[in-house]
Amino acid sequence: MNSILNYETVSLEDDALVILDQTKLPNEIVILHLQTQPEIWQAIRTLQVRGAPAIGIAAALGVYLAAKNIHAEDYMSFFVQFHEAKEYLNSARPTAVNLSWALNRMEKVVSDNEGRNIPEIVELLRREAIAIKTEDTEMCRKIGEHGLTLIKNGDGILTHCNAGQLATSKYGTALAPIHLGRERGMNFRVYCDETRPLLQGARLSTFELVADGVDTTLICDNMASQVMKEGKIDAVFVGCDRVAANGDACNKIGTSGVAILAKYYGIPFYVLGPTSTIDMNIAAGKDIVIEERPAEEVTEMWYSRRMAPEGVKVYNPAFDVTDHELITGIVTEHGIARPPYSESLRKIMLP
Ligand code: MRU
Repeated sequence: MNSILNYETVSLEDDALVILDQTKLPNEIVILHLQTQPEIWQAIRTLQVRGAPAIGIAAALGVYLAAKNIHAEDYMSFFVQFHEAKEYLNSARPTAVNLSWALNRMEKVVSDNEGRNIPEIVELLRREAIAIKTEDTEMCRKIGEHGLTLIKNGDGILTHCNAGQLATSKYGTALAPIHLGRERGMNFRVYCDETRPLLQGARLSTFELVADGVDTTLICDNMASQVMKEGKIDAVFVGCDRVAANGDACNKIGTSGVAILAKYYGIPFYVLGPTSTIDMNIAAGKDIVIEERPAEEVTEMWYSRRMAPEGVKVYNPAFDVTDHELITGIVTEHGIARPPYSESLRKIMLP
């Protein structure tokens, strides 16, 4: 059987954005060819493509496809239509900064090349989108290298959600050290929180780790304390969707609870992410917009019948913010930032 790790999470093929439909995993491997902007918007919105770096790459490739189809007499008309397409894709999800980061980078190509003709600009946009993807693979590999210095062969690692290859172009962020360690003949015991309500841990992280031959154990989110108490966890590795300038880190809902537990049990808690996920324009985590998702994800999804009474109020925030005081280190492609983060992140983010 072809391993899930041999599939590209997101790529470009002629006139289509090609994604592995993550809503179907692990039961079915479905490849989608998306051509229209509403299809691409919907794929990001419904998590067919998901994970902060992967949605940035999908949006960059997507807005390139939009640019290719723009009919414009002159630069100004091209710019206006490009900007509209960019804002549309940017509205698909609010929390992960990689989405706007990638789209802003694409728009800069347009604004920096006003003197060129439109086909030339479109070609530059194609190159920029491909570069965003290639650089992501390089960043993830470096994150893996730095992360690997924090653990030793045989260690128990707890992770939450999926910050693996399926969330990036390759390797992942939180799971990059694990995949890289495997390449070098190392093994770790990885505990994956199932990650309610969308089960990215159960459906995606365990799927890619088992495919890589990693000793993988699935636990429900509410089992983390017991597993830590039993001494099975040496470190927690999680991804991030937006890190504020003070080190507060926003990630999948449930992450901050894991950080609080880790602090209690004296277990190091690391956030792993590329610098494209660090938002120096946001001073602290309280200013990060937290996506709220439909109630049905909690009451119905995955169940054969509804599991809550009709009419009950449901609150479904998709992310939470881990206070910087709970974070032992933030692992980026440029190295590991340590507290105080306002200083270490500023140094890491210097051009
Ligand atoms: O809602 P999702 O599945 O897109 O949330 C993903 C996460 O929270 C990941 O941990 C984060 O994006 C980092 S992915 C390298």
